Amino acid sequence: MSRIVLGVTGGVAAYKAVMLASRLRQSGHDVDVVLTPAAEAFVTPLSFAAVTGRRAYTDEDLFAPQGEIVHVELAGAADLAIVAPATADFLAKAAHGMADGLLATILLATRAKVLLAPAMESAMWAHPATRRAVAQLRADGRTVLEPAAGHLASGRSGVGRLPEPEEIAQAIARALQPRRLVGASVLVTGGPTREYIDPVRFLSNPSTGRMGLAVAEAARDAGADVTLVLGPSELAVPPGIEVVRVTAAAEMAAAVQARFASADAFIATAAVADLRPREIAPAKVKKADLLMELPLERTTDILAWAGSVRRPQQVLVGFAAETGDLAAEARRKLDQKHCDLIVGNDVGESGAGFATETNRCLFVTADGERQVGPTSKREVGEEIVAFVAHRLGRP
Ligand code: CTP
Repeated sequence: MSRIVLGVTGGVAAYKAVMLASRLRQSGHDVDVVLTPAAEAFVTPLSFAAVTGRRAYTDEDLFAPQGEIVHVELAGAADLAIVAPATADFLAKAAHGMADGLLATILLATRAKVLLAPAMESAMWAHPATRRAVAQLRADGRTVLEPAAGHLASGRSGVGRLPEPEEIAQAIARALQPRRLVGASVLVTGGPTREYIDPVRFLSNPSTGRMGLAVAEAARDAGADVTLVLGPSELAVPPGIEVVRVTAAAEMAAAVQARFASADAFIATAAVADLRPREIAPAKVKKADLLMELPLERTTDILAWAGSVRRPQQVLVGFAAETGDLAAEARRKLDQKHCDLIVGNDVGESGAGFATETNRCLFVTADGERQVGPTSKREVGEEIVAFVAHRLGRP
């Protein structure tokens, strides 16, 4: 298993770091906990020593009596460093490379992957100074987790809570995974499309883009160069993903067609509108003038196009949203669109498909079928990435 430095800074959520340390230990990791002086005001080194079975470090250890250089040793031995909770003060200092304590020094000295899990009041999280620090840390290759929304220490509600230990442990597990897609180029479509009737009316569907984002993130974390062609979506796109924003199916098709040849894998999660009005009225049509019939035409099937021009070495993954015979329909699409994998979603079920957090899917390939989930869209994204890596011959 891995050796992990767990940095704890001085926030009220520091108690959750004890649970995180315990959880990591139970997963078999060796956890070196490093507390800042402010953290010691909330929790003690002893709490951590008790759950990790190892001594915990403080700034007292910066200049050890035996002369060993503790920060270099811990930094060198670490496979990963996580700071949880990371206060606004710590983020600001780390963004500037300040090294005024053992933890900050380790983060500068280590070559291991560094994750930070911020926790603070929402106003502090939203402050331009914190935004700048987070942007800088991300630009430096640090992974800054998004804080959760909910009850805050002030008694108010908002964004700024430390994510639950289980969630942080999952982020750590992902970060420790081998990066199987380094150097590969992955093209993803996501979200709905809008087919305008006139400037204020359109045909669309309830897709949020969450599945596309989850796949794009999983591919990014596996080391791929990811381009996400995204229809109208309210969701924030995480860093490290190139985004091409589009509105109509025709724009999405053009964006994919321009990039497909250079992609090693294409994953079509978008809920592309199948029909569009034959004509778009240039000005808002008056209610009285709206026709009771709307002449429609088919949009380009982007995935089918990709299937028709693909090279055998490229990997194609499509989705199938069905209310009927999921396996049969998914297999029909696999063949018709020349895909390597169809991820079938039973949209008739609750907890699967549109605008939900979780998915239960049927993975259909030429070799057979496999049930995945119910699980998070992120985990489904991980499974798809594992399939792509396998097909690309990456161990
Ligand atoms: N897709 C696409 N372009 C379209 C329509 C669909 O790229 N114009 C992709 C979707 O992103 C998805 C897959 O095709 O990966 C399946 O879409 P779905 O709507 O389930 O399938 P259809 O081919 O429209 O099939 P059906 O006959 O069931 O309507």
